[in-house]
Formats: sequence, C-alpha cells, structure tokens
Amino acid sequence: MKTIVFGADHAGYLLKDQLIETCRSLGYSCLDEGTNSGESVDYPVFAARVCETVRNGKADCGILVCGTGIGMSIAANRHLGIRAAVCSDPVAAKYTRLHNDANVLCLGARMIGSLAAEEIVRAFLETEFMGGKHQKRIEMLETFH
Ligand code: RB5
Repeated sequence: MKTIVFGADHAGYLLKDQLIETCRSLGYSCLDEGTNSGESVDYPVFAARVCETVRNGKADCGILVCGTGIGMSIAANRHLGIRAAVCSDPVAAKYTRLHNDANVLCLGARMIGSLAAEEIVRAFLETEFMGGKHQKRIEMLETFH
C-alpha cells in the first residue's frame, strides 16, 4: 500500500485532516507535515516539506491543500522531480496520473466540497501512470530546471 504525505496551510488543514482519516481507513499509510491549526501560515513552507518527503522516497506521493490549490501547485512545481496538479474533479485526477505521472495532488478547500475531494483523492491514488509515449514527455520536463 502506498505511503502518502499530506500538507496544508491554514485554509486547507481541516480538509487535509479529513482526507488523512479517509486514506487511513482505506489502508494507506499517511504522514502529516502540518499545518494543524487555523493560524495563518505560508503555503510554500508546507509545499516544500511535502515535496522533500516525496523526493527522498519516504512517501510515494503527496497531497497538498490550500484555499484554491493554486498556490500549492505553483510552489510544488518549483521542486525538482515534482509533478503537481491542482484538480477539481476525478477525471482530471485520473488523467494527471495516466498521462503526467503526477506525484503531488493539490486541492482547493475553498473551491470544492469534502465529498468531491474524497473522490478526487481516490481517483488519484487508484490510477497508475500509462508510460509509453508519455514517459519521454515526463523526462523532458526535468530539462527545464
Ligand atoms: C490563503 O489565504 C490563500 O491565499 C491560500 O490558501 C491559497 O489559496 C493560495 O493559493
């Protein structure tokens, strides 16, 4: 079973906590990099913690939650080897795994409901990368760092 590392800012921590509980009940091993309260924090800090955990192999993938998911995705994509996608529906989550081999999912807690978030997370975690012609494209991304 996959290990997932979670991170959030103050706008996303409640949804993050809910998703950790759901993922644990599904049998996933979950790491929590915070934040753990509504006190205002800076999303790039938590994106960096999650990305580092994915990069060093302590987690298979990461899930980041902020207000829109956008700040987290911009921050996460600055990290070498990270392919982060902000998704607001399960179809996008499925295809970012199939075609982009995304290793970080970003969610906007102020944009989507908690039920939608759970379906997006399940689609992301249950879909494997297709490989094939998409492999070369993934490798091209690293050349822009
Ligand atoms: C915090 O107010 C908000 O800016 C943040 O959660 C996120 O939406 C940034 O992209």
